[in-house]
Amino acid sequence: MTDVVRRHAEAEYATELALLAAGDDRPKPPGWKLSPQAVVTYLLGDGDVITPKYIGPRRLMEVAVATLATDRALLLLGVPGTAKTWVSEHLAAAISGDSTLMVQGTAGTPEEAIRYGWNYARLLAEGPTRAALVDSPVMKAMAGGGIARVEELTRIPSDVQDSLITVLSEKVLPIPELGQEVAARKGFNVIATANDRDRGVNELSSALRRRFNTVVLPVPADAEQEIDIVSRRVADLGRALELPDLPPAYEEIRRVVTVFRELRAGVTEDGRTRLKSPSGTMSTAEAISVLVNGVVLATHFGDGVLRAGDVAAGIVGAVVKDPVSDAVVWQEYLETVVRERDGWRDFYRAARSGE
Ligand SMILES: Nc1ncnc2c1ncn2[C@@H]1O[C@H](COP(=O)(O)OP(=O)(O)OP(=O)(O)O)[C@@H](O)[C@H]1O
Ligand SMILES: [Mg+2]
Repeated sequence: MTDVVRRHAEAEYATELALLAAGDDRPKPPGWKLSPQAVVTYLLGDGDVITPKYIGPRRLMEVAVATLATDRALLLLGVPGTAKTWVSEHLAAAISGDSTLMVQGTAGTPEEAIRYGWNYARLLAEGPTRAALVDSPVMKAMAGGGIARVEELTRIPSDVQDSLITVLSEKVLPIPELGQEVAARKGFNVIATANDRDRGVNELSSALRRRFNTVVLPVPADAEQEIDIVSRRVADLGRALELPDLPPAYEEIRRVVTVFRELRAGVTEDGRTRLKSPSGTMSTAEAISVLVNGVVLATHFGDGVLRAGDVAAGIVGAVVKDPVSDAVVWQEYLETVVRERDGWRDFYRAARSGE
């Protein structure tokens, strides 16, 4: 245990990465710490000492990893909470041992975040020198032959996005002020993520899009898979928060996942009742957070067993993002589905009393 709230993947999973490296006799692309096969094993687990990070189709991870061994960059696309950021961090950790070279895309991301900036005090004192230059994460990744991550690429203004084009096609970053350039070393590549719900990927200029291979991360295939993802992550996060191990709460997890899946799909699992969907995304990531909250409540304010009352308030909070329209959706769901369902009385009562 450390006193850091959240360690980077390469630190958190250092032991697994070292084990994989030690047993890795397959060819590695230049600049890579592991072979592509070992990177995929790191992501999906080996059923033994290597824990699964991503739960989903192996083929997608193979395609993602293979892309990074080419001269094309990787774009992870998907609705919120499908592990785009999570996979991107683990890919960078496994391939280059450093997941920290990251640009967070926002509407205000400046070109300096992708190219370079200046330390103005030094610039004024010394003029444009290499020492006055502030390297961007992309520049550092190029110089070190590592992976740069660009989060939420489609939120970045188009002209700033376009500064990636030269980087990706020429693999150099010119610094006209110094009459120099930074050439990318082998192992350099870029992983971008974009959310196809917030705003469309259409906003990627076609010139830039041609430099990326896109891998779409799907929502979990079925309830069992989603329960598996949620259970593992809740256990991981509980350990990170140093919460005591609670008795397994499979039924409670199954219930949360069911509520999320039904409201997301707009129909009950048996296909009989159509439902209105709330305005929020009801993502797997939110289901995880509802349950972690529940575990904290059960630990500190409950009897140490995760119960309906510990998750009900969190679920209401996740569903009701818009106080007017979502409240109606939730009421309808409670009265037509939750109330009638066998074994859901405790949950119905807890959800009602939290109103
Ligand atoms: N298929 C999956 N396998 C493993 N973990 C998953 C999976 N789907 C979601 N998660 C978990 O969900 C959480 C949120 O994932 P993440 O933040 O990467 O989502 P995202 O796709 O980047 O969402 P956003 O679009 O909101 O940025 C992570 O803790 C991740 O472990
Ligand atoms: Mg993300």
